[in-house]
Amino acid sequence: MAKQKIKYVCSSCGYESLRWIGKCPTCDNWNTFTEELIEEHKSGKKKYSGDTHITKLNSLKEEKEERIKTNIIEFDRVLGGGLMPGSVVLIGGDPGIGKSTLVMQAASKVDGNVLYVTGEESANQISLRANRLKVSNDKISVMTETDLDVILNAIEKHSPDLVIVDSIQTTYKPDFDNAPGTVTQIRECTVELMQLAKKKHCAIIIVGHVTK
Ligand SMILES: Nc1ncnc2c1ncn2[C@@H]1O[C@H](COP(=O)(O)OP(=O)(O)OP(=O)(O)O)[C@@H](O)[C@H]1O
Ligand SMILES: [Mg+2]
Repeated sequence: MAKQKIKYVCSSCGYESLRWIGKCPTCDNWNTFTEELIEEHKSGKKKYSGDTHITKLNSLKEEKEERIKTNIIEFDRVLGGGLMPGSVVLIGGDPGIGKSTLVMQAASKVDGNVLYVTGEESANQISLRANRLKVSNDKISVMTETDLDVILNAIEKHSPDLVIVDSIQTTYKPDFDNAPGTVTQIRECTVELMQLAKKKHCAIIIVGHVTK
């Protein structure tokens, strides 16, 4: 049985409170608390279930680490040699600093198929940027979408080597009533993208704004 309750979340640091407060006790910002819905599951006694699979460390087979090189030397160095398949990387920065430009350049140089998901810009804006950067590559597919379920479905279906989500603030999960960009939405969307990255063994780059 699910019961709906309200909590207040600081949009700056993610601190949660059951009542509204003006000043966040963690990050000291004022008026950052927004109302969000929480679902509580009343399931009585907690039971531990599920099949676990435990393996000895020394019996694990070592697989060759094949990173996806972006072929931008500085970017690859920061990534520790390239993008790791199955991992999620966050590109954060102030508005207009060049996040979309950087990820577009990386997409054009990567060896493999790229799915560029944008919730920020129109297909025309993406095309203009690609022309400006002289990017012409049939390995890049563009999708203008903000619904996470549609994005996950596209990743499942097309199995790209690299997925770019620009930006995580515009992506939302329709199951949650909270608005896109709220702490709950960002957290849930990121977790689901991480899970799918592991399952599909693809690399995901998430673009995030730093507004504060
Ligand atoms: N059509 C354009 N022509 C020339 N310069 C542009 C154009 N569009 C953006 N720029 C500039 O390129 C720089 C990088 O822009 P970019 O869109 O990559 O940044 P961003 O970090 O993704 O921004 P945002 O946070 O708004 O998404 C900015 O200084 C911007 O002003
Ligand atoms: Mg951008």
